[in-house]
Amino acid sequence: MKYYIGSDHAGFAVKGLVALMLIERGHEVVDLGTDSAERVDYPDYAEKVARAVVSDSGSHGVLICGTGIGMSVAANKIDGIRAAHCHDYYTAQMARAHNDANILCFGERVSGPGVIESMIDAFTTTSFEGGRHAGRVEKIMALEKNH
Ligand code: RB5
Repeated sequence: MKYYIGSDHAGFAVKGLVALMLIERGHEVVDLGTDSAERVDYPDYAEKVARAVVSDSGSHGVLICGTGIGMSVAANKIDGIRAAHCHDYYTAQMARAHNDANILCFGERVSGPGVIESMIDAFTTTSFEGGRHAGRVEKIMALEKNH
């Protein structure tokens, strides 16, 4: 699986670690920045990763900021994105199983490396369950057609 990853300055320190975690698990990683701890605006990186995921069918993304909130709010403005703001293994697992999330978001200032690794594990190994969840996800995507 190809993963597009991005962060702002508040997620920069852990982005390299996330790249290593994904590569160790056999995934391809495309890092869309930021490239330093210099202050930047998280919507710019949310947009880069979200647009890459939408235009590359079958790919997923990981976005990191201080809390994970700004990245998830911004990424979800792009049609076709279901960005999930997660906090632990369970929320990352359910984001894939029930919501068919295509971008994992979390906060470097909130989650430590062990929890981050558990979220990467859950997100990268869990498949969408479909079934009763498919119609709900279709309803989410239909909301895009109304704006
Ligand atoms: C940056 O200070 C911080 O606001 C940002 O990383 C993020 O947490 C926003 O949601």
